[in-house]
Amino acid sequence: MQFDDADLVLRDPLIDKVLISSGDIQKRIRQLGTEISRDYQDRQPILVCILKGAFVFLADLSRCISVHHEVDFMAISSYHGGTESTGVVKIEKDLKSNITDRDIIIVEDIVDTGLTLNYLLELLETRSPKSIRVCALLDKTSRRIEEVPVTYSGFEIPDEFVIGFGLDYDEKYRNLPFIGVLKP
Ligand code: IMP
Repeated sequence: MQFDDADLVLRDPLIDKVLISSGDIQKRIRQLGTEISRDYQDRQPILVCILKGAFVFLADLSRCISVHHEVDFMAISSYHGGTESTGVVKIEKDLKSNITDRDIIIVEDIVDTGLTLNYLLELLETRSPKSIRVCALLDKTSRRIEEVPVTYSGFEIPDEFVIGFGLDYDEKYRNLPFIGVLKP
């Protein structure tokens, strides 16, 4: 059975609203896929999916990229001091691939303060890839503490805690097909 975004909001009293609809997400992912396919012609990048949040985005993005590419996964957990990310990241699962001399695209769900991504970029740079770029579905630019280069950015969003499309609250809501906001 399939529900549309509005049905899903109605069915859960904790969800306040849809911020980005499933239709808009799919449209933007197709554009990102087209852009990446054009930029990586005659190359074979490795899409590095940052678990858990980016798994839904990766699955859709990969199917919108027409050039050959590989996928690999990294699981990380960020330590939070209160609600704020500290940038101290624990690698729970490392890549299988050797990324030396390879073109890497980090696929992230959201860039908030930028501390996590900054740590990851510094770590992966030590492995001497040919290039590294970042593709993030969501970008909270107003919250940035560490300037990080996001080459492919899906949507710039306001400073609100969002859920859905891979993003969780207490491990829930990753399955929503839209980006939503919880009730305060
Ligand atoms: P940063 O280090 O502050 O950029 O935090 C990035 C990570 O924090 C993301 O990969 C998410 O796991 C998490 N995060 C940041 N904002 C949100 C949000 O609005 N909803 C869910 N997770 C978030």
